[in-house]
Amino acid sequence: MWGGRFADGPSAIMREINASIPFDKRLWRQDIAGSRAHVAMLGAQGIIAEDDVTAIDAGLAGIADEYALSGPPEDLALEDIHMTVESRLAAMIGPTAGRLHTARSRNDQVATDFKLWVRDAIDAVSAGLEALQIALVTRAEEHAATIMPGFTHLQVAQPVTLGHHLMAWYEMTRRDSSRFADARVRMNRSPLGAAALAGTGFPIDRAATAAALGFDAPTDNSLNSVSDRDFALDYLMAATQCSLHLSRMAEEFVIWASQPYGFVSLPDAYSTGSSIMPQKRNPDAAELVRGHSGRIAGCMVALTMTMKGLPLAYSKDMQDDKPPVFEAHDLLALSIAAMTGMVETTRFVPERMRAAAEAGFSTATDLADWLVRAGGIPFREAHHITGRAVKLAESEGLALSALPLEALQAIDPRIDERVFSALTVDASVASRASHGGTAPDQVRARVAAAKAALGIEA
Ligand code: ARG
Repeated sequence: MWGGRFADGPSAIMREINASIPFDKRLWRQDIAGSRAHVAMLGAQGIIAEDDVTAIDAGLAGIADEYALSGPPEDLALEDIHMTVESRLAAMIGPTAGRLHTARSRNDQVATDFKLWVRDAIDAVSAGLEALQIALVTRAEEHAATIMPGFTHLQVAQPVTLGHHLMAWYEMTRRDSSRFADARVRMNRSPLGAAALAGTGFPIDRAATAAALGFDAPTDNSLNSVSDRDFALDYLMAATQCSLHLSRMAEEFVIWASQPYGFVSLPDAYSTGSSIMPQKRNPDAAELVRGHSGRIAGCMVALTMTMKGLPLAYSKDMQDDKPPVFEAHDLLALSIAAMTGMVETTRFVPERMRAAAEAGFSTATDLADWLVRAGGIPFREAHHITGRAVKLAESEGLALSALPLEALQAIDPRIDERVFSALTVDASVASRASHGGTAPDQVRARVAAAKAALGIEA
């Protein structure tokens, strides 16, 4: 390809370190699409003859058919996907193939291909997240009134509903969707036509290739066009944050599936057994989702470090942009699918959740709130009185609601029998009806809004 200036070929080591075809062959669809848009534009602008456009386009379509069957070949001598396609084109149609690379460089070509690939990746992840959100909303509606303990510091804090907990996960994934959507809008400008770094002297039509490839417009600075990998970093950063959310959900599945909790029974389809302990049923899918988040964050850091300090415009370091994006995407897509499957098929165990919510004095705040409302007692004092009641209940081995009225009145005479209606876990959750609170009616309202946002029946 640059034989004109070189007397010797590359050493085997140079060939190996230089080649990106082992991984960038994943860009073949985007590479061919970009070339077809480019050659059509060259023809329309009169830069190459229509006969040549027809031959080149037919050749590219034929290569796409070949690769769809068996993938691109992996010949290190051809270096990358761009040269692999071009050399195949030359083998098919002869020297006319050499006209395709008019008014472009591999620098704008690879930026274009990779953007198209990342854009498709965003669309795939967005669809996956939507399926996860539908699963979460469906299970939340089913469990809008199912009582479970809410935790802070992983200590029983106040009763909540399972529907509320699942809708918290929904909110996390909605922010992820919006980050991907945002990244998509920002990246959707075409670098094609920036050529090597300075633009081109040929009368190209960058708006035409941008439109043909589904970009909103061409980019406005040729140096920036070939040196920008923000779109890949935006993807990786959104992927990292999304995978952090998935890992937190996964961790809760792991905890909930443990015997002391027993809040869920994970389906066989998402668990494994042990080769030595017959009783084991391990939450491997959840653990791998949790583990994958570390690798995804590693990919984000890898590309961040690759890009750090690179002068404008293109440097070969940037060829290392693709493996971390491909790896992170594969891990993320699988993690989202696994989480969706777990949410859809897990059997929740409401009896265990309720029992755990009733233990641990989870309605102590309700007692304090009742003292404020019914007795006009300042909250700080009510908190102190409640603390004494909890201490008594703890030493007697009783739930708060099981303490005799006389015992409560001995702590504070302003307490009367009406207090007991405030001390059940059901009364506790029903009372938390502030916007975004855990009351079943609030959860149902949020589920209805989510269904509308997702475009599923309300
Ligand atoms: N394989 C290269 C990459 O992925 C293509 C761009 C080559 N450009 C160059 N100036 N050597 O980055």
